Amino acid sequence: MAKNRINPALSKSAFAESILSISTRFPLGSVFEDFLIMSIAACTQNVETGKSWYEEEYLATIDKYKDSELRYEFPKAFGALVIEMEERITSSLGNDILGEFFESHISNGRNGQFFTPQPVCDFMASITANKDERDAEEEKGKPLRILDPACGSGRMLISSSRRIGPGHEYYGIDIDRMCVKICALNLFLNGVWNSEVMCANALSPDDFVIAYRISFLPLGIFKIEDKEESKLWHLHNASFKKNVQKPFKPSPPTSEDSTQLNLF
Ligand SMILES: C[S@@+](CC[C@H](N)C(=O)[O-])C[C@H]1O[C@@H](n2cnc3c(N)ncnc32)[C@H](O)[C@@H]1O
Repeated sequence: MAKNRINPALSKSAFAESILSISTRFPLGSVFEDFLIMSIAACTQNVETGKSWYEEEYLATIDKYKDSELRYEFPKAFGALVIEMEERITSSLGNDILGEFFESHISNGRNGQFFTPQPVCDFMASITANKDERDAEEEKGKPLRILDPACGSGRMLISSSRRIGPGHEYYGIDIDRMCVKICALNLFLNGVWNSEVMCANALSPDDFVIAYRISFLPLGIFKIEDKEESKLWHLHNASFKKNVQKPFKPSPPTSEDSTQLNLF
């Protein structure tokens, strides 16, 4: 197995071992992306046909591997992922196996992305929406809406959902298509229903590439290809209109203003 400099826990991961074994014959970035595409398809079954809603995409993806025995590693990797996530569900390190793999083996050679350590996510979740706020919204019959506008693998959202509980809405935006798929699968496998992840530049009100809706009934991770059908796109777009800033007029400091700048 390739040396893992970032997360030593991954060197014991059967999930990582399976994905890396496929990459002995196929490019690792494509293998990981194909794993995400096929896992999303596998989680999204049409109960009437017994097949995935994304059957065609699944078949087109696995077709690349049809002449290699390594194709059997994909279902093995999925099984290992679910077991490892379950084993770490109460761990203080979290269970973001997909995000850890992305950081260690994919992004390292691409954009050098790093995600927030789990204890920091848990702390931030605890200050983002507290129990009183949750109870007040529940009393009004309104769900809290939690948004991470640069969600990466979705750790902050998963921490928030554990803290605040079910019945609320969790939203993530990321500019990176692979992160969006990781986040969608992470939310689904952690049972964070009522959630949506959108691939877009969060700094632009109109931008939209694709979104995924994670739902319990019907069960699955559903692609949204038209922005008009995305609740998150509408909420995000409306938040820009609501927060339109008035032109900034500088005013000179008064004698009461402190000259001290506090730096982190
Ligand atoms: C440091 S990671 C943080 C991820 C996650 N919030 C966490 O705490 O683990 C920053 C993420 O922001 C995304 N990103 C950067 N610029 C963005 C933009 N303009 N719009 C949306 N996402 C962006 C990156 O792709 C990356 O996944």
